[in-house]
Amino acid sequence: MNNPVSDVAAPDFYQYPSKPLSSAACEGEFVHLLWPDGAKLACHRFWLRENAVGDGGIDLATRECTLDPADLTDDIAVSSAVIDDMGNLVIAWAHDGQRSIFHGGWLRHVADNEHRPSSWTPQAVLWTPESMGDIPRVDATLALESDDVVLSLLNHLLCSGACVLEQAPTHEGYLLELAARIGPVRDSNFGMLWDVKADVELAGDSKTNSTANTGLRLGPHSDLPTREIPPGFQFLHCLINEADGGESTLTDGAALAEALERDFPEEFELLTTRHWIFFNRGPGIDHRWSAPIIDYLPGSDLPTIRAFYPVRAFPAMSLEDVSRCYDALRLFHRMANQPEFELKFRLRAGDIMCFDNRRVLHGRDAFTGAGKRHLQGVYIDRDEIMSRCRALNRRAGLHADGI
Ligand SMILES: [Fe+2]
Repeated sequence: MNNPVSDVAAPDFYQYPSKPLSSAACEGEFVHLLWPDGAKLACHRFWLRENAVGDGGIDLATRECTLDPADLTDDIAVSSAVIDDMGNLVIAWAHDGQRSIFHGGWLRHVADNEHRPSSWTPQAVLWTPESMGDIPRVDATLALESDDVVLSLLNHLLCSGACVLEQAPTHEGYLLELAARIGPVRDSNFGMLWDVKADVELAGDSKTNSTANTGLRLGPHSDLPTREIPPGFQFLHCLINEADGGESTLTDGAALAEALERDFPEEFELLTTRHWIFFNRGPGIDHRWSAPIIDYLPGSDLPTIRAFYPVRAFPAMSLEDVSRCYDALRLFHRMANQPEFELKFRLRAGDIMCFDNRRVLHGRDAFTGAGKRHLQGVYIDRDEIMSRCRALNRRAGLHADGI
């Protein structure tokens, strides 16, 4: 039987089931909480004060903390901590005599680590073509109406870093309709919605501003490594694919990095520590960033792969490292292109290839013949994907370990 829902406001807009506490004990600057099943949580006096709803801590309208840390004075102290009839925590404050009630279910979600960024999203699972078989596929027919479709897509994207939405409409701009169901599109100098479009007979046309708009092969790469934080996720919508060739490729860069660390530790060290300067050249633009090829940015276990040779411009390392780093770079790209790591498939009209642009390398074979090939793309940052995924998983009641 479900516990009754407490009407005590939580410091956010979620509804929490009641999780009655069994005891609370003050010790120094902490209040130690205990639940009947043995779960524990230690709460600092200032943290409790910051999270006291309506008592100068959390504003009821915004559910955000309004307390400037400069106003956390030494005299703020807990005079008593007791459990009420609903199992909530009741704090009496010594300095102003106020009383604050903390929802037992909300406190328990902190004790259960459900407040952490990794909660309510699936764990990443590294893959090779052998371990994954085919790329995960989700039917897009109801994507604009059904949260279940969006949630299935987002869970695949955070788990495998890749998914194909299939059976989508093939009109231009559909990606913006789909993106509106997920989160804000990330703009760039290529525009909010950009085209990968090539009439084969025009391949090599000097008017194009990108290798993507020719029929040339594009080896495994990630877009915009020239940015401090490259775009998180990429959605490539196939509107027409009548060309001969042009198969799409995906390589899990996280699995590749793991294999390099295991089998080629010296090369892995060079790829993760020595910097290259990436440079987007164009009239009126000058994007540059200096970073390693395999970039472990703080706060994530997954690497951000910076592997786009058209914009990798200069080695930024000591001269004695350059030859060794080129050797490591050649090894990285050769492995990325091996069937052991690279998944290859053909996009059909109505397919949307969605992938983690920072984790998963993408590419395409050269294409020839008389047929047209037209894709449209958008970027959506990882923050937006994770936010929407958490909100939908919480609404569906799915925990990270149950997804
Ligand atoms: Fe690309």
